[in-house]
Amino acid sequence: MRKKVSIIGAGHVGASTAQLLAYEGTVNVVLFDIAEGVPQGKALDIAEACPLWRSSSSVKGTNSYDDTAHSDVLIITAGFPRKPGMSRDDLLNANAEVVRGVAAETSKRSPDAVMIVVTNPMDVMAQLAWKVSGFPHRRVVGMGGVLDSSRFRTFISSELGVSPSDVEALVMGGHGDQMVPLPRFTTVKGVPITDILPAEKIHSLIERTRNGGAEIVSLLKTGSAYYAPAAATCEMIKAVLFDEKRVLPCAAYLDGEYGARGLFVGVPVVLGKDGAERVMELDINKEEKTGFARSLSAVKALVEKLSI
Ligand code: LAC
Repeated sequence: MRKKVSIIGAGHVGASTAQLLAYEGTVNVVLFDIAEGVPQGKALDIAEACPLWRSSSSVKGTNSYDDTAHSDVLIITAGFPRKPGMSRDDLLNANAEVVRGVAAETSKRSPDAVMIVVTNPMDVMAQLAWKVSGFPHRRVVGMGGVLDSSRFRTFISSELGVSPSDVEALVMGGHGDQMVPLPRFTTVKGVPITDILPAEKIHSLIERTRNGGAEIVSLLKTGSAYYAPAAATCEMIKAVLFDEKRVLPCAAYLDGEYGARGLFVGVPVVLGKDGAERVMELDINKEEKTGFARSLSAVKALVEKLSI
């Protein structure tokens, strides 16, 4: 049977993710939103592109949670985006309200799904969605590290004048201002960037990565990034649907790994049909551990604010 992916939130990130999935051509996509007509209109528009893409996907827009039933993967993008000057954390209360409802409504209709949380502040929203859904923790993952790593790869590739596809990068920690890009684990065809670029340059690329979301918010003025977030989400969806066992940085529940317990935060995981099947523990050094601990405390402070 054809796999089914339901995307909750037909804003820019949700609709762009639907578009990428439909272009792939093998999955059935449901696009849900509470705004009447919006998911229907966007889904119909995407469906009308499918013949041109030689895609066999069906794309349905809906305002009814019942249409999301029996999904293999649930994507939660619903919520408010940032405005210029806002941090992801400023969205906490408003988006917690949205995610609480969405996680409850979708999880009961698709009890066996893997849930991918995109709504910001993402690590905390993943924690909340996990609590509300009652899913095993491995079946809830958050999208942040894939996007942040892709931004880091982009900046390194333009600095060095090499193809971004030959740059591998790893960004750990929360998807927030304290995220932890790891230059020792960031390579160009296997060569660590610490051997290729001067320390000051690496530092400025790290800063740009940390501010990558805000850079786009300040350019757009009316919303936040969506092309790269959708591409990153799509990479994770495919890893789950096709049981690819991809090694990707995602927000996952830590149960003692990296010295943390009971919190969702970005770490490299093996992503397959059961979600974050395994957390990979890297041999990080003292400085990297300090950065990770700082990021973890920022996530923890938000989790405590919501009392989840
Ligand atoms: C960003 C938002 C999606 O990083 O968190 O652009």
